[in-house]
Amino acid sequence: MLAPMAGATDQAFREIAKDYGCDFLVSEMVSAKGLVYDNQRTKDLLAFSDKERPLAIQLFGNEPQTMAEAARRIADQVAPDMIDINMGCPTPKIVKNGDGAALLQDPDLAVRIVESVRQAVDIPVTVKLRLGWADGDLSALQLSPRLNAVGVHWITVHGRTRQQFYSGHADWDAIRAIKKQITVPLVANGDIRSPETAAEALRRTEADHIMIGRAALGNPWIFREIKTYLDTGIIPEMPTAHERVTVILRHLHRAAELKGELRAVFEMRAHVAWYFKHVPYSAEIRRRANHCKSVADYQRLLTSWQEANCVG
Ligand SMILES: Cc1cc2nc3c(=O)[nH]c(=O)nc-3n(C[C@H](O)[C@H](O)[C@H](O)COP(=O)(O)O)c2cc1C
Repeated sequence: MLAPMAGATDQAFREIAKDYGCDFLVSEMVSAKGLVYDNQRTKDLLAFSDKERPLAIQLFGNEPQTMAEAARRIADQVAPDMIDINMGCPTPKIVKNGDGAALLQDPDLAVRIVESVRQAVDIPVTVKLRLGWADGDLSALQLSPRLNAVGVHWITVHGRTRQQFYSGHADWDAIRAIKKQITVPLVANGDIRSPETAAEALRRTEADHIMIGRAALGNPWIFREIKTYLDTGIIPEMPTAHERVTVILRHLHRAAELKGELRAVFEMRAHVAWYFKHVPYSAEIRRRANHCKSVADYQRLLTSWQEANCVG
């Protein structure tokens, strides 16, 4: 699965991940309050295409009634395959309102939210959480069986605490301990960066599914690579310069179609940095991408890079 990543896993990128073998997509996190208050920017996050299915829309919030109302509207208006509830976001802006990972500190409320959302919609409801709040806190170990008991469809665990943010390592053994407490499927997440780490995470966590976040940014090929490796033990070749440029330009054109050229061109800067992160001698192209002001600018820049890097 592709992990939800606010500001990064928009529709244009998700469609590409799907084409490269990703089996399940989750939207960027969507504010339940924003939806109920009819905020247009929030509503825009609900858009997805049929080719993205199966897809979950991820909701964040902490009021059971608001979460239920938002889920009902989502189910009525865009009919996703599932609703996922965010209990893992660590950012201060979110947790200070009691949303995201803050729910790990109030397990009764977390359970009530799942119950209300379950009652509000007919589609499966899933939860994505972290191990606990502070270092050493494994409250997900107690919370997960309670979420299981009120009917979540699966639980995704990012093997870090809120306090860790993204530091240290994801604790795959702690994920396995949670797996042993629940009967619904478990999705393991955190630090899966390659075909080999995917195989190792599956073995260590005994998870039913795996979810990839940061390693997919600028690297949608990772889904194909993981599948090929798990099936055959062979790691496919890195994408060619031609394939890389083709995908970036497709991503850009699709983003421009969906969000308008100005916004797409601006947001593409981060993506281009990711697309070239592991490409040797690419500092110059990343620097020059920051000066692109139109789709045509990117097209010229990337085509000249491709011509310089095509061998044979
Ligand atoms: C830029 C960014 C945005 C994120 N946004 C979300 C989000 O909207 N919802 C969520 O549940 N997790 C979010 N996450 C967390 C990821 O889904 C994932 O749990 C985390 O990155 C660990 O997985 P990884 O090691 O494969 O990256 C975000 C992470 C990053 C880096």
